[in-house]
Amino acid sequence: MTDSLLDSLHSAVPELRLKTDAGDLEHYGRDWTRRWTPNPLAIALPGSVEEVQAVMRWASEHAVKVVPSGGRTGLSGGAVAANGELVLSLERLNKPLSFDRVDRTLTVQAGMPLEAVHNAAREEGLEYPVDFAARGSCSIGGNIATNAGGIRVIRYGNTREWIAGLKVVTADGELLDLNRALVKNSSGYDIRQLMIGSEGTLGIVVEATLRLTDPPPPTNVMLLALTSFEALMEVFAAFRERLQLEAFEFFTDIALKHVLAHGAVKPFDEVHPYYVVTEFATGDEAKEAAAMAAFEACMEAGWVADGVISQSDAQAQQLWRLREGITESLAPHVPYKNDVSVRISRMPAFLEETQKLLGEAYPQFEVVWFGHIGDGNLHINVLKPADMAQADFVRDCEQVTKLLAQALKAHEGSISAEHGIGLVKKNYLDSTRGPAEIALMRGIRQAMDPAGLLNPGKLFDA
Ligand code: FAD
Ligand code: MLT
Ligand code: ZN
Repeated sequence: MTDSLLDSLHSAVPELRLKTDAGDLEHYGRDWTRRWTPNPLAIALPGSVEEVQAVMRWASEHAVKVVPSGGRTGLSGGAVAANGELVLSLERLNKPLSFDRVDRTLTVQAGMPLEAVHNAAREEGLEYPVDFAARGSCSIGGNIATNAGGIRVIRYGNTREWIAGLKVVTADGELLDLNRALVKNSSGYDIRQLMIGSEGTLGIVVEATLRLTDPPPPTNVMLLALTSFEALMEVFAAFRERLQLEAFEFFTDIALKHVLAHGAVKPFDEVHPYYVVTEFATGDEAKEAAAMAAFEACMEAGWVADGVISQSDAQAQQLWRLREGITESLAPHVPYKNDVSVRISRMPAFLEETQKLLGEAYPQFEVVWFGHIGDGNLHINVLKPADMAQADFVRDCEQVTKLLAQALKAHEGSISAEHGIGLVKKNYLDSTRGPAEIALMRGIRQAMDPAGLLNPGKLFDA
């Protein structure tokens, strides 16, 4: 069956690069979640948009399910192929296509790594400002499909804000040219926006036209040691009031313990319960004085116990590593990841309730808190004890996620701030979206992919 299917694919798209070795099936069949056993049919690596279209026409004809695949750094199981799907990897479509100085846009192929997009924008003296630690491996197509956030959302917003136009291949192989980089376009439904965050369930992004912005101002990075969890939002308010913040990120002593064990440099002699890394615009005396004033106000209020400010780019990077290195340092512990958000104004009440809830629910596990606190986005990672079976661990964690989902519903928050629903969070989608809204989402999926070929089982059961 597999052989005859692949023979027919070969006949339909003769030049298509295909991988079927066991190692490749495993490598391309999973993402960072490591929870599902990869079992794809094969890996297709098209080298052109026309080949992507031809693959989808073939998939439609033969009712073959397809998993679009970028850098597979996803944290929600979105790019997992565990049920005989064809993985359609965009990795060969990884080039910049054009730059327009007047429009200030960069058009790229979807498989281009985020870091390569940054570099291409900087070569033109401009900036693509969405950024996070997976920059070297994740693709712009994956960023679009998850509406990725990251460490600069507080200043620049999510991926959605930077997408001027998209080219998308539909389930039956049509090519859509969405919005054509227009600034103004009131001509009906904006399907481009629908594609952003659709997790590969509505179409395959093959090209993106990205808005670019001015290079960032000169900045400084400060690491703050906080005395209590309650101080967190107070410190945020004090800094935001006085400074132009480029980032405001937090983590706990347990996160620091893991990142230090993974090679980061210890920032303070003493251990403190909570830390903030913040980056803000500097470059003149007034801004530097404002930064010192924010720091001193927080010290005087008793919210901050210690602090360090970067004196060089190298030191700024060292401080950032304490925050950006957390995910990799936790990976060996196969964490159960929560990625939740509430409106910033709801954060203090939500934090208080969640801390109590998780303290009671997880006495047996190590729990690591960190995240984009300035955006109302918390990452709560529960670490698997080495001697516990993965299935038992996930079952225990799911019990707590039910409670967390209830708290999110009460606080009008989201079960997925930036990683996507994928396989991991589909049972909790109804904590964030109402029944009528989910029914509409299913209807849109039905309209765009009636045979349910694109990434089936992700976001909701198809
Ligand atoms: P993949 O994992 O390959 O795919 C993700 C989803 O997109 C899947 O559903 C897939 O089917 C779909 N998809 C991929 N390409 C396409 C395409 N061309 N067309 C249609 N659908 C497609 N995320 C954040 O938002 N903020 C962070 O700060 C952040 N930090 C991270 C740090 C680390 C160390 C790691 C490992 C991950 C982090 N992530 C973060 C998660 C991840 O990097 C993002 O979700 C990223 O956008 C995924 O991109 P990818 O190319 O790896 O996508
Ligand atoms: C982060 O903010 O570091 C990322 O979203 C990755 C993670 O949650 O582990
Ligand atoms: Zn994050």
